[in-house]
Amino acid sequence: MRPLFIQDGRIIDPSQGIDEVGSLLISEGKISWRGETPPQDDYDVLRAEGLIVCPGFIDFHCHLRQPGFEEKETIASGTQAAARGGFTTVCCMPNTNPPLENQSAIDYVKAAAAKEGVVRVLPIGCISKGRKGEELVEMAELAQAGVIAYSDDGNPVSSPRLMRQALDYSRALGLPVIDHCEETALSKGGQMNEGALSAKLELPGIPAAAEEVMVARDLVLAQLTGGHLHIAHVSTEGSVDLIRRAKEKGIKITAEVTPHHLTLTEEEVNDYNTNAKVSPPLRTKQDNQALIQGLMENVIDIIATDHAPHAEADKQCEFALAASGISNFETALGNLMRLVHDEQLPLTTLIAKLTCEPAKLIKDNNLGTLNTGAPADITIFDLYKEWVVDPKTFASKGKNTPLAGSVLKGKVMATIYGGNLVYKDDAIKLEEG
Ligand code: DOR
Repeated sequence: MRPLFIQDGRIIDPSQGIDEVGSLLISEGKISWRGETPPQDDYDVLRAEGLIVCPGFIDFHCHLRQPGFEEKETIASGTQAAARGGFTTVCCMPNTNPPLENQSAIDYVKAAAAKEGVVRVLPIGCISKGRKGEELVEMAELAQAGVIAYSDDGNPVSSPRLMRQALDYSRALGLPVIDHCEETALSKGGQMNEGALSAKLELPGIPAAAEEVMVARDLVLAQLTGGHLHIAHVSTEGSVDLIRRAKEKGIKITAEVTPHHLTLTEEEVNDYNTNAKVSPPLRTKQDNQALIQGLMENVIDIIATDHAPHAEADKQCEFALAASGISNFETALGNLMRLVHDEQLPLTTLIAKLTCEPAKLIKDNNLGTLNTGAPADITIFDLYKEWVVDPKTFASKGKNTPLAGSVLKGKVMATIYGGNLVYKDDAIKLEEG
């Protein structure tokens, strides 16, 4: 592989506190040098003038659907979509068929990712057998197989006893337990956020309390056990308040928020748009603001996409029958850049929440950084490039996004994974040296 010189970009690497114009040299899949005048002259060149050069994004929560739901996504299509979105590491949820609940399922995902994936895939294992919430999986076996966390995502862990056990084991195994916080006794049958709009649309509502009751329970259990609890897709102001208070008490918890819960509201559902149906549901402007504030205060640790691709038939139906989820990889950056352009979130905070902060959860110092010697996982993006979201052009099989037709400002121009250029926008040229 010829060395690659990324020339004159604005290098932002929150892991090292760097924000400066400079160049990077990549040799043998690693970042070998950073500075102004390169130490050698036999390389290919990517000119990055005016562009941001940062560590490759890490997504701690996505759905790749393989095995079992290949009509929605595969490891090949999902990782290609990830690359287009600037993600070089994606952690995939176990709600596949069969679910990722034993060594052989994890081995299968790893082998498929090695063969067909274009970016790093790190599997998450189930908490309970069959994701039924009844019996714990062999958590140690899964740790041995290489999972980076446990989750029944899509379903909550309804039994507090099972959650307690999972957190106990997680402490011993040193891996986080990710909960999809939803008290189903409150959310059952719900289609969207509960409020005036759900009443107007005559759709059953999901109250904020359905999430908050479960967040509160989990925080208590995290305190009891000392296990590492990670709260998936936080969507309400009340959850942010609960997590803030728990962190103040020193309880070992982390939390994530998705791009859509930061930027979109229940209004997206106003015309019964099934592409805006997601679990937890889109909430209100006030919730958006609380979530942004939570990121700023590090109450919320990371941004994760919850990329949830679905087939056309899953969404082209009556609202109540539609699947929940948004295909997110390819719009994540452009959507999140709204917060930067509106001066609600500093650019470096946004990048940290997509790079070094999720790397901490994976406990890998070599990820989420442009340190010399680290794998050359790099995202290059244009802060200002405007583009129209056209799901037909997605690499993802999931065309399900409420952002279709929106103009986003901010676009990934190139993604490098382990020194390989895995995505390049036509507007950026690779000059062969
Ligand atoms: O909207 C969602 N879709 N939320 C989840 O928690 C699961 C996901 C899926 O798997 O489609």
